[in-house]
Amino acid sequence: MSSKRVFSGMRPTGKLHLGHLVGALDNWVHLQDTHQCVYSIVDWHALMGEYENSRNIRSYVYDMALDWLSCGIDPRKSIVFLQSDVPEHLELQMFLSCLTPLGWLERNPTYKEQLREITTRDLQTYAFLGYPVLQAADILLYKADAVPIGEDQLPHLELTREIARRFNSMYGVELFKDCASILTPTSRLLGLDNRKMSKSYGNTINLSDTAEEIAVKVRNMVTDPKRQRLKDPGHPDECNVFSYYKAFAPGKADAVRDWCVNANKGCTDCKKIMADEIIEYLRPVREARSKLAKDRAYLDEVLKDGALRARDVAVKTMAEVRKAVFS
Ligand code: TRP
Ligand code: SF4
Repeated sequence: MSSKRVFSGMRPTGKLHLGHLVGALDNWVHLQDTHQCVYSIVDWHALMGEYENSRNIRSYVYDMALDWLSCGIDPRKSIVFLQSDVPEHLELQMFLSCLTPLGWLERNPTYKEQLREITTRDLQTYAFLGYPVLQAADILLYKADAVPIGEDQLPHLELTREIARRFNSMYGVELFKDCASILTPTSRLLGLDNRKMSKSYGNTINLSDTAEEIAVKVRNMVTDPKRQRLKDPGHPDECNVFSYYKAFAPGKADAVRDWCVNANKGCTDCKKIMADEIIEYLRPVREARSKLAKDRAYLDEVLKDGALRARDVAVKTMAEVRKAVFS
């Protein structure tokens, strides 16, 4: 195994869905075989957006730990921990905040977009502006070489590099290194209603859904709107159901295209088959999840042990940071 370190985090703001699986988690699982991975459930980041609903965060943390482990994140291979169990994240954030110019944060495109688009929550806060500084602290605390993230997070990673360079040059040290991004292909999977897959639209298939729930959700999926009657030929490339086939049952895609354009099968049947594919695809996750869900003590143990291992690294970095700044 290479000694290169990977760090990534996810905000516990709800149950994980298929988009998280194909967009991120699958990649995280593979990285465990080639890198030393540190994966954090970043509850303080969740709090910055959800401070008005803070009581939900605890249960989302457990959901996330369950989802991660049942997808193959392996605490024997990786460090899996809860951000708020490692107070050094906040301490480093403080040091980094001091030297981060306001303009860098105000210009951040992700920040501006979220302020524009999220209207249900008041994000005009001091903490939310500083969101990327805490993210930089997450990454730099572990001196990560690489960070698997989605494209929307690239500006945050660029800020992390700029903050790291500014720290190094201001205090005349080579403490922090440049971290590379490992781009997880943005999941092109749309939600069940053809909009972006998102919990807030209620258009997701969750990793924790039962077979029955999946069957109902898929049955209600929107299909090719031009195909009104059974004998109308369909347009698979304009049908979301087809894109799910490509993602979860690529071996069937040719057959689906064929029955669709030749109107040999109706959408209801096509979706029934699709539902069975997804149910099968998620079976190992569902089975692992229901086993793990019964063992809360084990989850606690995993997070506790992860925090100890994370702190080992974090405490060392913080000693170096204090030395660089104060002596
Ligand atoms: N901002 C990231 C997101 O919303 C979550 C995150 C927090 C993160 N800290 C991180 C991702 C550090 C990578 C590295 O997806
Ligand atoms: Fe979509 Fe399948 Fe209907 Fe074709 S047959 S339009 S792929 S649901």
